[in-house]
Amino acid sequence: MKFFIDTANLSEIKEAQDLGILDGVTTNPSLMAKEKITGQANVFAHYKAICDIVEDGDVSAEVISTDFEGIIKEGKELAKLADNIVVKVPMIKDGIKAIKWFDSEGIRTNCTLVFSAGQAILAAKAGATYLSPFVGRVDDVTWDGIKLIEEIAAIYSMQGYMTEILAASIRSPLHIVQAAKAGADVVTCPLSSIMGLLNHPLTDIGLKKFLEDHQKSLQG
Ligand code: E4P
Repeated sequence: MKFFIDTANLSEIKEAQDLGILDGVTTNPSLMAKEKITGQANVFAHYKAICDIVEDGDVSAEVISTDFEGIIKEGKELAKLADNIVVKVPMIKDGIKAIKWFDSEGIRTNCTLVFSAGQAILAAKAGATYLSPFVGRVDDVTWDGIKLIEEIAAIYSMQGYMTEILAASIRSPLHIVQAAKAGADVVTCPLSSIMGLLNHPLTDIGLKKFLEDHQKSLQG
């Protein structure tokens, strides 16, 4: 399973990249706004900076337009920024048409705001590179986000769809483990959830004991 970080914060991206396990980055307009990036030139420069940090890793950059012509124009501009840009397109009628068009032009896409298996089938038929079902937001309305990943993974495997399942809206280290078990190809998560995977009290206790015993052995 690939690991993406879900942020537009450059220092968080660098920290995850330094761990050596990062395969890419996802952003969205809310994450860009959080970094106070406004104006097209600044937004594009920020995407370039992210692409430079992750080098070969895929970087999802989301379009703001919701009509076919607008999505195509924006997506083409984004795709020109760097080879590792993936154009993020919302799961709407014109979005599906645009994904189909991008696919025919060799431009990779991430279909976002996915909440059902039906939407997942449509995105795969259109040729989306990645599909982003929002696990945490499904949980928020007391449905089961991980069950949705399982259902989509079963359908994609049965039908031979090539679209990669990118489990998004991940809220905890447990979500990461569950997404892996459910068959996600990629998980995108905040830095805190990635770092949370490191933690286990028995590791801390065991390491403390090893270091104490080592010190004792030095003292003869
Ligand atoms: C990523 O592609 C999504 O935009 C993101 O994971 C949404 O996460 P949230 O539900 O925590 O905002």
